Amino acid sequence: MAAKLLKGAEVAKEIRAELKAEVQKLQEKYGVVPGLVTILVGENPASQSYVRAKQNTAHELGFYSVQDNQPADLNEDALLKLIDKYNKDPKVDGILVQLPLPKGVNENKILLAIDPGKDVDAFHPVNVGKLMIGEPDYLPCTPAGIQELLVRSGAEISGAEVVVIGRSNIVGKPIAMMLAQKGPGANATVTICHTRTKDVKWHAQRADILVVAAGVTEYVKGDWVKPGAVVIDVGVNEVGKTAEGKRILKGDVEFETAAEKASAITPVPGGVGPMTITMLMKNTVRACKVHNNIKE
Ligand code: GUN
Repeated sequence: MAAKLLKGAEVAKEIRAELKAEVQKLQEKYGVVPGLVTILVGENPASQSYVRAKQNTAHELGFYSVQDNQPADLNEDALLKLIDKYNKDPKVDGILVQLPLPKGVNENKILLAIDPGKDVDAFHPVNVGKLMIGEPDYLPCTPAGIQELLVRSGAEISGAEVVVIGRSNIVGKPIAMMLAQKGPGANATVTICHTRTKDVKWHAQRADILVVAAGVTEYVKGDWVKPGAVVIDVGVNEVGKTAEGKRILKGDVEFETAAEKASAITPVPGGVGPMTITMLMKNTVRACKVHNNIKE
């Protein structure tokens, strides 16, 4: 394998250590503690696993953290009431509603109900709009994690041809917007590919930076990767379980063949995933500072 491994797990650990120290200082100097609520509706096993990881990290950093599990048949009004309760709770700086929500619940309506100042996922249209005009209060977590990994990898982003495969609101659209913005860690020329793109492989092959969030196991093969490209694999696909019942995960990129061609590549697991959670914590610390008028 020629490629350098972009180990998000290690970078995330460094950032979390910094955040932990910051949380301690907030408590000692100002008597405040960042508060994070994660709301999970239903029992989707992947969502349960993500939310558990988020809560464990919040706990490890010394946050006030609440895991609010709700039954799958919770109706929209009840969920709106719950969000309103946390919007008004001064102990809570960040509210995260884990997606996807059960069928029948209008996700956009729910996201719109979260106080934009507590929207640490940055999914509220106000935060999406602020990102679009280049003045974000909060960056969406997975795209922020990707950008941080790219910057730390030393990749030349300015002027680079970036190809993003996937156009979701959570990853594809925001990362494309962030990398195309004017400013440090950005200034790229970005193409978004999706299910109606005529020749995704052709686009992929001309990418200096290839970001894959297609949701399809090992969709991108080694011969799609331009020699020397940086490959960011956002896929998290469960392909089985170990004898101990642990999830076996694969990305959206065929790792072994892509690593032969790329100059740098994120592994799955241990690449983008841990960065996402860490950026959520970073946003929550920021929210806490804003809510308490702490400027440092
Ligand atoms: N589902 C998949 N990714 C995410 C995320 O980053 N935040 C939330 N709330 N739900 C998700």
